[in-house]
Amino acid sequence: MSSHGDPIPMTARQGGPLRGEALVPGDKSISHRALILGAMAVGETKISGLLEGQDVLDTGRAMEAFGAEVVNHGGGNWSVHGVGVGGFCEPDQVIDCGNSGTGVRLIMGAAATTDIAVTYTGDASLNSRPMGRVTDPLALFGTRAVGRAGGRLPMTLLGAKEPTPVRYVVPVPSAQVKSAVLLAGLNAPGETVVIEQEATRDHTERMLAGFGAEVSVEDTDEGRVITLKGQPELRPQTIAVPRDPSSAAFPVCAALLVDGSDVLVPNIGLNPTRAGLFYTLQEMGAELTFENMREEGGEPVADLRARYSPAMKGINVPPERAASMIDEYPVLSVVAAFAEGQTVMTGVKELRVKESDRIDAMAQGLRAAGVEVDEGEDWWTVTGRGFGQVAGGITAESRLDHRIAMSFLILGLASNAPVSVDDGGPIATSFPIFEDLMADLGAQIERTAR
Ligand code: S3P
Repeated sequence: MSSHGDPIPMTARQGGPLRGEALVPGDKSISHRALILGAMAVGETKISGLLEGQDVLDTGRAMEAFGAEVVNHGGGNWSVHGVGVGGFCEPDQVIDCGNSGTGVRLIMGAAATTDIAVTYTGDASLNSRPMGRVTDPLALFGTRAVGRAGGRLPMTLLGAKEPTPVRYVVPVPSAQVKSAVLLAGLNAPGETVVIEQEATRDHTERMLAGFGAEVSVEDTDEGRVITLKGQPELRPQTIAVPRDPSSAAFPVCAALLVDGSDVLVPNIGLNPTRAGLFYTLQEMGAELTFENMREEGGEPVADLRARYSPAMKGINVPPERAASMIDEYPVLSVVAAFAEGQTVMTGVKELRVKESDRIDAMAQGLRAAGVEVDEGEDWWTVTGRGFGQVAGGITAESRLDHRIAMSFLILGLASNAPVSVDDGGPIATSFPIFEDLMADLGAQIERTAR
């Protein structure tokens, strides 16, 4: 990844229609959780379709540092020999989670209630992100954290010697925080209760149940109440990771924007806590259909078909949908730039603390490309220019953020002049086959000389 190497400038430009099948990689959220829960089970968990992006590979390496055996059998097939709940050993190295907020926050939770000291670090992006949102609730279990000012990495966590279970109301809509508390609750006696006011992705709850933990979910006036019984023996699982809807978003949006396109994206996870973008695009008038809806491994999946959709209109995206599409706003803002009228996105403060400040990153690039963007702390609007009316002709900063890099490259496929990004290296964190996959569909995206 280029955060540890030379930047990889890339350029996208208009070309012919995009056509064919886009086999996007495995779901990043589910891949992290499969490795972590596999490491906390007793025995061998088998995983197929694991995302082999840098974020997930870093989590796999971390699990090895805690004593699990993680084996790559090739072709996306992996196994994890777990050490059981409470069985993590103290790593003899710093745990480097690279670019991954999900990786570090979930691992902090998983290790927080075992009596070991662990030091975490990451790249420049991760080391600037807030960790207090996780270390605050972990302190309630008895975990102590010492990090840099503002709760930033590098940071050492001293696991609780005698963890006590916790009741915690998550103050921000964050699946990472919810999951960190639940994973910490695994090694605390008694019941850990996590309450979220807004539903966020629920892969941890689903997977905990699959591994044999006693976990219940109840919708109440207080919010979604998740109750976990501590100190279970987790049973190893066979997990087929569905393809990632957040990665599917890029070829889907590209197909909507490029004249004459027709792209099928098979076998996409459509968990309702993740599918908000696709419903938003349909409301905007996208020719996007779900074919062959089915359930696989406890998750709803479908094949998505996206066709060129030049009649899209801007809409108000309801704030209650934000959590189900939080990673997709950057690429939605690109689609909005080509739609007729304004797209209004509210309740999106969390976008400011992702791999980059995603509102600022997209706003700056879109404005430079001739698109009107307005913004406040937790909202932004994009005033669409209509198809054929977006100038482009910019080099955008990707800011160590894979989704910013890919979003601007999608912009370049449909804008009048090419769009470059200063560094496409971060794309490998979540979508290592992005360039080949887009090229196979017919997209004109290339690495550019520096
Ligand atoms: C994720 C949760 C989200 C999301 C991230 C993956 C997860 O982050 O942005 O890409 O797998 O739990 P937050 O929990 O910070 O919203």
